Amino acid sequence: MVIRKICCIGGGYVGGPTASVLALKCPDIEVTVCDTNAKKISEWNSDKLPIFEPDLEDIVKLCRGKNLFFTTNCERAISEADLIFISVNTPIKTFGHGKGKALDLQHVEDAARMIAASSKRNKIVVEKSTVPVRAAESISHILKANQIDGISYQVLSNPEFLAEGSAINDLLYPDRVLIGGGDDSDSVDAMNELSSIYKRWVSKEKIITTDTWSSELSKLGANAILAQRLSSINALSALCEVTGADVNQVATALGADSRISPNFLHANIGFGGRCFQKDILNLIYICECLNLPEVAHYWQNVLDMNEYQKNRFARKIMRSFYNTVHGKRIALLGFAFKKNTCDVKESPAIYIAKMLLDEGAALQIYDPKVEESQILKVLSKPVTSNDSEIVQQAITVFSDAYAATKDTHAIVVCTGWDEFTSLDYKKIYESMLKPAYVFDGTNVLDLRELAKIGFHVESIGKGPIVR
Ligand code: UDX
Repeated sequence: MVIRKICCIGGGYVGGPTASVLALKCPDIEVTVCDTNAKKISEWNSDKLPIFEPDLEDIVKLCRGKNLFFTTNCERAISEADLIFISVNTPIKTFGHGKGKALDLQHVEDAARMIAASSKRNKIVVEKSTVPVRAAESISHILKANQIDGISYQVLSNPEFLAEGSAINDLLYPDRVLIGGGDDSDSVDAMNELSSIYKRWVSKEKIITTDTWSSELSKLGANAILAQRLSSINALSALCEVTGADVNQVATALGADSRISPNFLHANIGFGGRCFQKDILNLIYICECLNLPEVAHYWQNVLDMNEYQKNRFARKIMRSFYNTVHGKRIALLGFAFKKNTCDVKESPAIYIAKMLLDEGAALQIYDPKVEESQILKVLSKPVTSNDSEIVQQAITVFSDAYAATKDTHAIVVCTGWDEFTSLDYKKIYESMLKPAYVFDGTNVLDLRELAKIGFHVESIGKGPIVR
């Protein structure tokens, strides 16, 4: 089969950037993103894309209308495509069996049913969403149970390892591309087709082929191990704080060991994002279902340590104010779950903001990329004892860091945006109420410099900083 047209079902954080890079690297292939969410599609077709990713806009502008299209007409996009990526979201189930742990595969199933209903010839179907082990098998079942005579489907697993904030770079220069499939000749042919697309810009040594289940499990395993590293360095950060060691120096020393490597050793307020917590919960659920309680317990500890880290930092803020922040004005710098993204999914900033609001503080929030409506939406969800109206009254969202910090008692840095390291903290100090505090949850500020200016400073993984 010669691949002339590709369809990506799902225009989210994975589907949009993936389709854009495919279109950029394969000018002879028409790539169409389809999504039933009309608002999202109209944003993809506008000047203001629904997600922010460095370099994404340039690529979309270059390819859109030429070989990159965004549409709500999924039926047509699917029927015309030779190869279909399923890149829909797979949230944690909020109901029924496996509630709070298992992945909700409703959107994957809907996509499979849509493919079965709209296909009039053979298709390669590629599962890109993070899914539980053996999900490809259930996609195959749905397709086979609904297939029209004479049509065949090859279902492959091709998990996406891109991280938000570096999606384009990760897609252009991946560490590896993983393709899982069966060992029959049709499946091998389909794997070769998919490989040949990636080979246009990825060297063949980086393309790994495995069986389907190994590929699916590798995705869950990669995220679990990355998160486990973070919980390990965060656990050490707690030890550093009570003993006076500096976790950044410890991380440098650890990372110099080539077996450990320096990546993913930056201690901070805790990890967030769309994948780590969700995938570990799913892994725990799978282990419990397969009667592996010790393994489930091991991964649960990774999540528990992350909760402990966020809670420890929140308690640190409270302790500095003698356990009462009622009536205090506190600036939150950063709301996204990490820098270079507008995504707030599982952002530690939400945890901190809710705790401060619940204690009666007023918040002045600034994030370079997160929209005010998004901040108000997530903070108004009733997790605190306040009702949403009171919460909204207690929050003001600003469009720059200087305005957000003016007349506040404290600054809490929740996201490590580069611009926060180069702010004029002298000017900020002068505009604040005294004593002025900085709580650095990102571990990126020059604490000694801040202490010299006059701030009381607290951070992650360091003993007390004295002036
Ligand atoms: C992650 C995986 O990296 C990616 O491969 C997968 O496809 C999706 O999940 P993402 O969540 O977008 O990507 O971002 P990532 O850069 O991995 O950061 C996740 C969290 O870890 C963030 O909260 C980040 O602040 C935190 N982190 C990362 C640290 O706390 N310290 C570090 O050293 C690195």
